[in-house]
Amino acid sequence: MSHDNHANELTIADADFNRMVKFVQDNYGIDLHAKRQLIQSRLTGVLKRKGYHAFKDYVDYLLTQGNGDDINELLSKLTTNYTYFQRETESFDFFVKTILPAVTAKHTGDKTLSIWSAACSSGEEPYNVTMYMMDYFGAHWREWDARMLATDLSLDVLGKAQRGVYSLPDTLPEKWKKAYFTPAGGDRYQISQAVKDNVIFRQFNLMDEIKFKRKFDIIFCRNVMIYFDQPTKTALINRLYDATVPGGYLIISLSENLPPNTKWKRLTSAIFQK
Ligand SMILES: C[S@@+](CC[C@H](N)C(=O)[O-])C[C@H]1O[C@@H](n2cnc3c(N)ncnc32)[C@H](O)[C@@H]1O
Repeated sequence: MSHDNHANELTIADADFNRMVKFVQDNYGIDLHAKRQLIQSRLTGVLKRKGYHAFKDYVDYLLTQGNGDDINELLSKLTTNYTYFQRETESFDFFVKTILPAVTAKHTGDKTLSIWSAACSSGEEPYNVTMYMMDYFGAHWREWDARMLATDLSLDVLGKAQRGVYSLPDTLPEKWKKAYFTPAGGDRYQISQAVKDNVIFRQFNLMDEIKFKRKFDIIFCRNVMIYFDQPTKTALINRLYDATVPGGYLIISLSENLPPNTKWKRLTSAIFQK
């Protein structure tokens, strides 16, 4: 039964809540069991726009006939896309000082690096990694093919990433603001074409089998596993291991960890090697 509360929010009954939680868990690995309030507050507007008056009807529809757009809409409402430039610079420092010298030494022959930002949200992370690489390679940048793959589940954030217009934080070096952006009015800046051309955006669900053509030298998978339960997380970490070259690197967030018995070797906080 549903009713409107003071905020005109619809209420989801236990049975419908449980069905939705299971559906999202089984198909997308996202654990919503503690997110009842979030479901009600973020989805009430969606339901009303689609002409539903009760969660039961919406959940019935979603589970039986929901198409890609419906699922995208649901997930973009329920997952957090929060991200920003210069997030956890400790990891970027390690990337520049330790990882890039090691992988470039390995690739002096083919001058090709294979890097994946595996939950890129609106693009700040892969663009930021590209800036660090352009800075690192300097005049030799054009000799290298360091094009990155950047994926996310949400088409909404991928659209923002492709547009590449941002408000920039003060933590972004001033010389990078000048070199890698052009003013786009007000406090907004457009990412430069050179940075943009280095990133290939695709939709990818991290629950799916990883079938990209090449194995990766470096995978960034930051601030997404927090939404997954332990078995989902462990399975993903193993798939990322298989998708990496021997000696390759995995960078997670400082607020995350890998299970103690993982095959990955820990190098420093949040950075692991195969
Ligand atoms: C908090 S953002 C992290 C962005 C960036 N990696 C960072 O650390 O700033 C989490 C992203 O994970 C994405 N996401 C959630 N579940 C996913 C899944 N099953 N497959 C792929 N991406 C997913 C969300 O759409 C969101 O954009």
